[in-house]
Amino acid sequence: MYLRLNDGLIMNYEISKTAALEDRRPDFDKMMSEVREGLLATPKTLPCKYFYDEKGSDLFQQICDLPEYYLTRTETSLLTSIASEIAELIGPGSQMIEYGTGSSKKMRIVLSALIEPESFTAVDISEKHLLTATKALSRAFPHLKVHAVTADFAKPFTVPAMTGTGLRVGFFPGSTIGNVTHEEVIEFLKGTRKIVGPMGVMLIGVDLKKDVRILRAAYNDSQGLTAAFNMNLLARLNRDLGTTFNLTQFSHDAVYDAELGRVEMHLVSHTEQTVTLGRDVIFFRKGETIHTENSYKYGQNQFKALSARAGYKSLMVWTDPNACFGIFFLQAEA
Ligand code: AVJ
Repeated sequence: MYLRLNDGLIMNYEISKTAALEDRRPDFDKMMSEVREGLLATPKTLPCKYFYDEKGSDLFQQICDLPEYYLTRTETSLLTSIASEIAELIGPGSQMIEYGTGSSKKMRIVLSALIEPESFTAVDISEKHLLTATKALSRAFPHLKVHAVTADFAKPFTVPAMTGTGLRVGFFPGSTIGNVTHEEVIEFLKGTRKIVGPMGVMLIGVDLKKDVRILRAAYNDSQGLTAAFNMNLLARLNRDLGTTFNLTQFSHDAVYDAELGRVEMHLVSHTEQTVTLGRDVIFFRKGETIHTENSYKYGQNQFKALSARAGYKSLMVWTDPNACFGIFFLQAEA
């Protein structure tokens, strides 16, 4: 779906759908085959993108406000304090693209500081969030050309032609990049070079390596919201795919693997049990887990090195005073 807002009149927008983009939305068959593949594999895995049904998205919003979950709060206040520096580096007439728009609270902080930004293109897999966010933004920034693109940004996608003389800047906050492996980060960044073009910029929020106790607390919060978020995946599969997970027979676990530099979330089977998925019967040993998410944590130089392998030069890294979280300003080679 392409959507163009602010075309002359604020709120006067038009929706046109393109087959290519439509096809990239997850549907039942795709979900079924990905889930089946993950559950029949050893060790068992599930794609973390399926956390975000309505309930899961809501739980994630609540996680962001938890005292133990430092990421959102740290990144938001860091962005606020560096917004004018970012604006200076980017300069006037920029063409902004946000990867995974959600509520767009962070994009607003940047847009408010920018010098006469030209356009804003929001990319998100959820059409509902995209509409709410882009409508609100087009109202708040009446001179900005606002576009909305529904796409799974983990795969190649195209954006409407952007015009303007300023830099193209991809904004990817939230340490969402932490969900994928190092090799996938390189592939993803190479893909963004096609969008932002030569000398284009990627502004990326990345969670940094830190004391393991802080990490453990952030993914095992005392209110049990992260556990509920993880467990909701099973409820979702029962509802959407007709699996027969007994929710009382699994529990949440999150561990930090220092060697791999990542927090792993798992769902642990309490007993020996079977679960049905379509025609397949999936067997669980007692204590066997489903690996549901990775959340990679980086050293500053480590992330710079990955960016370099994708053809980006790291011009600037900002961190909060405790160096918990980093915002990287990367510029593509000419
Ligand atoms: C949205 C991927 C950044 O890894 O911290 C929060 C998701 N998982 N609590 C993260 C998440 C468990 C989050 N990201």
